[in-house]
Amino acid sequence: MNFTWEELSEAARAQAYADWQAGKGLIGGNPHQRPNSHLLPVWGVDQPFFRALAMDDARGNNGATLAALLATDRPVEVEIGFGRGDFLLDRARRHPQRLLVGYETKNKATRLMLQRIARYEISNLWVSDDDVRFNLPLVMEDGRLDAVHILFPDPWWKPQHHVKRLFSPPFVDLLAAKLQSGGLLHFKSDVQEYGELVRYLVEQHGAFLPHDPALAERVGPYAPTHREAWCQRHQRPVYAYYFVRQ
Ligand SMILES: C[S@@+](CC[C@H](N)C(=O)[O-])C[C@H]1O[C@@H](n2cnc3c(N)ncnc32)[C@H](O)[C@@H]1O
Repeated sequence: MNFTWEELSEAARAQAYADWQAGKGLIGGNPHQRPNSHLLPVWGVDQPFFRALAMDDARGNNGATLAALLATDRPVEVEIGFGRGDFLLDRARRHPQRLLVGYETKNKATRLMLQRIARYEISNLWVSDDDVRFNLPLVMEDGRLDAVHILFPDPWWKPQHHVKRLFSPPFVDLLAAKLQSGGLLHFKSDVQEYGELVRYLVEQHGAFLPHDPALAERVGPYAPTHREAWCQRHQRPVYAYYFVRQ
């Protein structure tokens, strides 16, 4: 399939902000309109699991525990769309001094990750099945993040699905707000044109330095995600981008 994009007109930019304000394109819909979204699911109580609207659910200590962890000066890294979780789990084990926070809207994948966190006795990894675009503004203080990893996000090929795509001007605003100065935005895709769209959106934002491949060393050794491993097996090129928050 062809992934095409063009520089945004003022009208397209305004539309992206209007859609964001209206909560359009949120995966799973708008949590404010979902029944019981102020409650944790039973399987998530007293687990390293959180939802933005259930931070105060008194049945579990989840919200208070995560808030206390975030209130320290421990480095925090986020992965958005962790899927099977291989990169995130490996990162948490490799860097026990950092706090890792993962977002994955697929409920089943999030529950599987909780099982792996318990099995490997990992204490520095928290996950949420909220759409990151909804959760991050409510849960994370500005300037708190040291790194954001976005690896092989869905391209959402069809025009009617573009509103679900992660990258848009308001999403780049969100990343710029939550990353601290010097923080890293790490992006990979096997769809080159999506990579180029991301590069355009990030570089024209003004808060980020241009893509610098040498910053790959800040990621260091890592376990590939499921998609990256698939690309490696099928000799399919991967396009990697690294941007620093100014
Ligand atoms: C194409 S998959 C890639 C998974 C994994 N990163 C990999 O490379 O194998 C993208 C994942 O992002 C998740 N996702 C999509 N939009 C999201 C959002 N707004 N917030 C959190 N997760 C999202 C999807 O559920 C899906 O599992």
